[in-house]
Amino acid sequence: PTPDAWQRLDAYFAQTLVGHDPALDAAVADQNDAGLPPIEVAPVNGKLLHLLARMSHARRVLEIGTLGAYSTIWLARGIPDDGRVVTIEAEPRNARIARANLDRAGVGDKVEILLGRAADVLPTLEGGESFDLVFIDADKESNTIYLDWAARLGHPGTVVVVDNVGRGGRVADPAAMEPQVIGTQRGLELLGRDPRFDATAIQTLDAKGWDGVAIALVV
Ligand code: DHB
Ligand code: MG
Repeated sequence: PTPDAWQRLDAYFAQTLVGHDPALDAAVADQNDAGLPPIEVAPVNGKLLHLLARMSHARRVLEIGTLGAYSTIWLARGIPDDGRVVTIEAEPRNARIARANLDRAGVGDKVEILLGRAADVLPTLEGGESFDLVFIDADKESNTIYLDWAARLGHPGTVVVVDNVGRGGRVADPAAMEPQVIGTQRGLELLGRDPRFDATAIQTLDAKGWDGVAIALVV
């Protein structure tokens, strides 16, 4: 299909099933105005995260990679009032924009932003209450580390979602040299062989182009 055709279909899905929300639209606008990269999930995928949280009755959500908190808002709206989203962000500037976006969306009280590199922050969560849903959307080079922590901080039944597992089809190239692609491949290989997980992945063709999302269950 031509980009024109699938972009129209994605826009139709988004318009028909997702709609518009002032706080989500403002979060994207402020993120763009601040010069952050426009790599938040597409609206249809934000809605997918939200529905997965509700379908799995998640109360505690862990997000790795906050950016401007677009996906964080979707997730926070999918958990009960006594639930919590813990989201990890390495860039202080991103975290400040995210905090403002979360507060404006009315979910600020449900979300804790932990500042730092996720590989350093994740060990500090050990021994705390476990997570029911984990969304991995940070530096792709570290996906195997993040997946290992998702299993350790989760429990049987925890839903794990990994963003950007398609990357324009490049993830299928066994000779790929880009660290992001190699990290994504290693993460998928881990999901395929690690007995702690049962997983699948689906391609996505949406406002963000041709990519994919992996969905796993901690068994
Ligand atoms: C990139 C990262 C993302 O999380 C995303 O959704 C799209 C692109 C990137 O680093 O290129
Ligand atoms: Mg992403």
